[in-house]
This record gives sequence, structure tokens and C-alpha cells, in this order.
Amino acid sequence: MSRTTDTSDVLIIGGGIIGLVTAWRAAQRGFATAVVDPDPGGGAAQVAAGMLAAVTELHYGEQTLLGLNLASARRYPDFATELTDLTGHDLGYRRCGTLAVALDADDRAHLRELHALQRESGLESEWLSGRECRKLEPMLAPGVRGGLRVDGDHQIDPRRLTAALMAACERAGVVFHRVWAEHLDVVRGRAAGVTTTDGTALAAGQVVLAAGSLSGRLSGVPDDVLPPVRPVKGQVLRLTVPERYAPFLSRTVRAVVRGSQVYLVPRENGELVVGATSEELGWDTTVTAGGVYELLRDAHELVPGITELPLTETRAGLRPGSPDNAPLLGPTELPGLLLATGHFRNGVLLTPVTGDAMAHVLATGELPDEARPFTPKRFALSEQPA
Ligand code: GLY
Repeated sequence: MSRTTDTSDVLIIGGGIIGLVTAWRAAQRGFATAVVDPDPGGGAAQVAAGMLAAVTELHYGEQTLLGLNLASARRYPDFATELTDLTGHDLGYRRCGTLAVALDADDRAHLRELHALQRESGLESEWLSGRECRKLEPMLAPGVRGGLRVDGDHQIDPRRLTAALMAACERAGVVFHRVWAEHLDVVRGRAAGVTTTDGTALAAGQVVLAAGSLSGRLSGVPDDVLPPVRPVKGQVLRLTVPERYAPFLSRTVRAVVRGSQVYLVPRENGELVVGATSEELGWDTTVTAGGVYELLRDAHELVPGITELPLTETRAGLRPGSPDNAPLLGPTELPGLLLATGHFRNGVLLTPVTGDAMAHVLATGELPDEARPFTPKRFALSEQPA
């Protein structure tokens, strides 16, 4: 027998950055809001590097996603100021820019194609020779063959962002249930809340499933509504730049080395984040010798001096991958159940726009224009006969 101990207007399943920003914005709109998560503030954001890389992470076929990424990047300055003013937390938002470099002829050709796509898409990026790249970042390897300077791709510290969102939620009166949601409760064809692993029924007018890579596993969600989200493992390293080496890098430096992405994200506090592997290994979050080796090998090819730095942390997280690499936002075919998941490589970048879009749809029933292409119903519709 379950017992109902709490009723809210909006219940968010998942207390990662997407769940937290949704909860905060919903509470600001006057909804009595609750979050169910055994460890709110945990999740993939504790591992992520925090690049706000709408331009350097542009891919062919993802121009619709680019629109949402850019909309969110534009909101970041005000979003960060609002959160800092409210909570006193500095988010480590750094308008440092990004330099994407090439180490060999193949990488150079790949980067030239990216540059052409950026220009076709109306984005600002500047092609630099190897010498110009090294002038900007003297720690780069002598073999760098050229690069793209993107001053508009910034960074934030996702751990600080999470702490600020937790504080903002607490101030806004969001209730935290520190327990797993075991089962979605459906009453007369409508999502009505969840039952938790301790047998408590949490009732709600609207339920938002925002559980990152776990979103596709909640029991009680009808099969045709369950989001097609899968875990994509990323291993990430953290190093420390001692004072005597500062400034080691002045902006994010990244490259594709033998087909794998590697990036180095320097924080103002001396932390240097090196990421990331991309592995389809289910729920495995083991940090492997191979993963660490490959990241260090590729990062060392880019910036040989990193081998001098203390290695302070190794960690793996799970990105919530979706079939088209874009998030699923808004109402599902099950009345009362909404999704905010599937953000894949862009969860940190998409946090501001996701919070705004989810608050809007919770209040009005409609997604705002910029979020409409990301309705979860796009997957259901693609399976309809022609
Ligand atoms: N956006 C960087 C990553 O997912 O590795």
C-alpha cells in the first residue's frame, strides 16, 4: 500500500541541471513544485566540462538544433547574472572563446569543412594559420597546422551552476524528495504522480520526466511514450595548473585527433578539464586506463606541457543521447506527462532555454516557438505510415 504524503502542481523526476532549472522556473511562475531524486545536484553536470560551444560543436544535419543552441547561448549572460544576484554563487561564466585546431592534413580538411558550414550558417569564426594559433596560445604544439578562432563560444563551471540552481530552487520553495521515483502513476489515462521506492505516492497536476540518461527506464510510462534516450559514456579528467605555469591556456582549445574529440577547458581557478570519450557501453561508468590514456595522449599531442600538471580527478558520466542528438521538450501523448531530456552533448549549454521553454509549456500548454521542433511527438509521428 502506498501513502500519499505530498501533492504539488508540478513534480519533476530528476534533480540534474535540467530538472533543477525546470523546477526553479516553474516555482517562479507560482507553481507548487517538487523534485524527486535521491541525490539532487548530482548527475552528468558533475562530470561535464561546461563548454558553451554552439559554433565549434556544429554538425551537418543539426541546423535546427543550432537555432536552439544559439538561443540558449544568447541567454547565458543574463541567466548567469540572475542566478548570481539571487544566490550569491559565482558560476564561473567565462567569455574566453574557443580555438579549434588541426594537427594533420586530415584534421585540417575537417576543420575547413566546419568553417565553411559555419559561414553558410551565418556564424562568426576566423581561420588562423598554425603560427597565428601559437601566437594566441603559446603552449600549443609546434605541429599545429591551423585553426578556427571562435570568440563567441564561452564556458561555465557546471558544478557551480548546479550549486546555484539548488540554492535558487530552495529559495523559490521547491520541495526535494530525496528518494528514487520507482513508478509513474497513471489515473484515468493521465499522469498523476509517482510512487517512490519507499512506497510513498507523490501526486501532481503535471509530471516532468527530466532524469537524463535514465529517462527511458521509468516503469509505468507507456511504451509509446517512453523517451528514446540512451546513455553515452564520457570520461573526463581534471588537472590543476600551478601558479608558476599560469596562464597555461587562455581559452578552450580543442581538436579532433584520429577521429576522437579532445578538448581542454581552462578555468580561472586553475582547474583544467580535459574531455571526453564518447562510448556506447550502456550504464557502465568505469574510468578505464584506456580512456585516460587516450585523452592524455591526444591532449598531449595538442599541448605537450600538460604532462607536467598534477592530475587531480578522473570521472565518467552518462550523456542522455537521443536519436537525432537533440532534446525532447514538452508534452507527450500521455496527458499530464512532459519531457525535458535527451540533451546529449548540450545539456549545460541548453539549460537556460530549457528552463524558459518548460516553464512556458507548463503554464500555457504550448511550447514557445524556438522549442517547437523539439517536441517528443516528432518520434511518434515519424513512425506513422506515409
Ligand atoms: N559537449 C561536450 C561533450 O559532451 O563531451
